[in-house]
Amino acid sequence: MQDVKTLILGAGAAGMMCAIHAGAGTLVIDHAKAPGEKIRISGGGRCNFTNTDCGPGNFLSANRHFAKSALARYTQWDFIELVSRHNIAWHEKTLGQLFCDNSAKDIIAMLLAEMDAAGARLRLGVSAGEITHDGAVFRVTLSDGSTVRARNLVVATGGKSIPKMGATGFGYDVARQFGHDVLDTRPALVPLTFGDRFSPLSGVSLPVQAAANGTAFNEAMLFTHRGLSGPAILQISSFWREGEAITVDLMPGRDAFGALRALRQNAGGKAMATMLADLIPTRLAQALATDWALPARLADCSDKTLRDIGARLNGWTLTPTGSEGYRTAEVTLGGVDTAQISSRSMESTLQPGLFFIGEVLDVTGWLGGYNFQWAWSSGHAAGTEI
Ligand code: FDA
Repeated sequence: MQDVKTLILGAGAAGMMCAIHAGAGTLVIDHAKAPGEKIRISGGGRCNFTNTDCGPGNFLSANRHFAKSALARYTQWDFIELVSRHNIAWHEKTLGQLFCDNSAKDIIAMLLAEMDAAGARLRLGVSAGEITHDGAVFRVTLSDGSTVRARNLVVATGGKSIPKMGATGFGYDVARQFGHDVLDTRPALVPLTFGDRFSPLSGVSLPVQAAANGTAFNEAMLFTHRGLSGPAILQISSFWREGEAITVDLMPGRDAFGALRALRQNAGGKAMATMLADLIPTRLAQALATDWALPARLADCSDKTLRDIGARLNGWTLTPTGSEGYRTAEVTLGGVDTAQISSRSMESTLQPGLFFIGEVLDVTGWLGGYNFQWAWSSGHAAGTEI
């Protein structure tokens, strides 16, 4: 039997940040062999650790006000200051997204050093099992047969994405055990599938504006063997619902009809696919000329036909067959309902001493460093309260 002040379940981004601020008397456990595995693989190994434009508007939640307090009290600038204090070189890639120059492992090393300095301890290779509360303390049975008694229990076990890396639904079970509602979960920031429809176009990428359910993002889109991916598609996947269509503007910011008319005037005698290739990637131009059964030459098109083709280029409507699911999703939408959680401290309003932080909560960020910022901010909120 081990007695600690605070037991944190999960040594991911949120759990480690919480431990840094909870300090001495804190034990963090994780069933993985190494801490921060998702940090390690994030951002192509360079970890997009925050976003300079981060604000509450970049998050999805049933309560869109919930994230405000924690994000305001530990901001992107606080995390940037921490990273800079550890002499970790970083750069902005695009759209306010900050990445390590060297390796995501630098962020993990930084968090471990801060935990050590704060007096928090870490145990790896053990998972949490049965949890009880006797009115005074939590008792948590670990997979090695030992029991930990703790006044505070912080659930930082993340969402369901990438089960291969140890993601479980464990945090949701703990929440339900203590009377919390858990909102339906869905894979998000995930490629959308279209059967093998786009297989011949695999590898083609272009800047687009993709939209689902009234929300649009201007970023790159990539055709893959299974469907559509790239940042624009990952972003709208969080807003898309099964069975619904998405809209893709293949010429964002340009009037396709006007562009087609100008092309017809100058060289309308050329083959349609050749002309379209002036506006979009060649392989896509060829595929669309066939799929949309377009006239052989632009010169053969009336203004009405050109208007129709232009409307399709500026608003291609497509219905995905599904998504690639938790296997590749970067995050999980939904989760522990924030209605029964304090937005200031992340403590349960049903069970004093019980905290939920990070992705396990119903707070999901856009692509671009927002999800890590939520992990830092919510971890800080709970850690400082403890
Ligand atoms: P996280 O999942 O990180 O940690 C939970 C921990 O709990 C894990 O270590 C797990 O092993 C442990 N655990 C689970 N059940 C347990 C149990 N029963 N007992 C013990 N331990 C248990 N975000 C971003 O902002 N920028 C980026 O660049 C990326 N890139 C990215 C790439 C990929 C491939 C993925 C999958 C995800 C991203 N993300 C991202 C999202 C980001 O990784 C994610 O939002 C955070 O890691 C969430 O942090 P948490 O600490 O909440 O959970």
